[in-house]
Amino acid sequence: MNCERGCAHPVADADALAGAPLAVRLLGEDWVLWRDEAGAPRAAPDRCPHRGARLSLGRVCDGMLECAYHGWRFDGEGRCTRIPALPGFTPPASHGLHRVALVEAHGLLWLQPDGAPPCLPAFEAEHDARLRKLNVGPYDVAASAPRVVENFLDLAHFGFVHEGWLGDRAHVELADYRVEPTPTGFVASGCRAWQPQSNRLSSEGSWVDYRYELTSPYTAVLTKLPEQQGGYRDEIALFVCPVDEEASRVWFRMALTDFDSSDEQIRAFQHTIFTQDQPVLESQRPKRLPLAGGEVHCAADRSSAAYRRFLRERDISFGVLP
Ligand code: FES
Ligand code: FE
Repeated sequence: MNCERGCAHPVADADALAGAPLAVRLLGEDWVLWRDEAGAPRAAPDRCPHRGARLSLGRVCDGMLECAYHGWRFDGEGRCTRIPALPGFTPPASHGLHRVALVEAHGLLWLQPDGAPPCLPAFEAEHDARLRKLNVGPYDVAASAPRVVENFLDLAHFGFVHEGWLGDRAHVELADYRVEPTPTGFVASGCRAWQPQSNRLSSEGSWVDYRYELTSPYTAVLTKLPEQQGGYRDEIALFVCPVDEEASRVWFRMALTDFDSSDEQIRAFQHTIFTQDQPVLESQRPKRLPLAGGEVHCAADRSSAAYRRFLRERDISFGVLP
């Protein structure tokens, strides 16, 4: 099984899927989402098996997806239950949809094109009641998913791209950090950065210890432990949907100790940071991440080298140049 098709990817906000079908794009293909009679999210290729019309143009009736062209209906299992032109006909299994796994987690819907059950990336902080959770995004970015992930794992850009926020030109030297493999990717630990404004509430600059974990080909988790925050961790998960080879949809799942700020204030802070990254990300050429040659590296790029190695070892082909 192709590795990127055998894991679950975020495709939409869970609350964006209500009473109507929703069209999404993942791995260069069109998919339709809907909710069945019990409210469970369902997904299938966005193409009617009858004459190829887009099913997302249709509607949902009693939890069944109805095609806009000739009104064929499909239940939550993908079975064709009704062909209006032939009321007495029982459609055979071959008239059904190829339903794929779709689950709700972290406020998002996750689609897995091949195999089941869905293989979701870990985010332990989700279950920590001391942390306040909210999502920021989605951002539609004209960059490949691996470029977005690699930027998230990159420490050496803080003093330049995020000057005055996550970094400072006077403190851009990187201490040695460790990279160790895990079953789903790797962990980079011992990362330190001087941050003038490490989060919305910080009033002065501080050293911040970082830990990064790659949790699937296109997801990663950042753990921040500022010196002044005894015992608590802020965790930010990056969830990237590989929409097309050179286009991505990006969410951040925040798990924070900050219960004082409003959702809007937290989103505004994260929005400022990501919109500093976005023009750089969209400027990178080639847009697909080159896995063998074409770019030069230095010792500070250890986590990026580990990421490229991981993608090669897993035979990831979407959004990369082999
Ligand atoms: Fe969908 Fe005919 S194309 S019912
Ligand atoms: Fe950045």
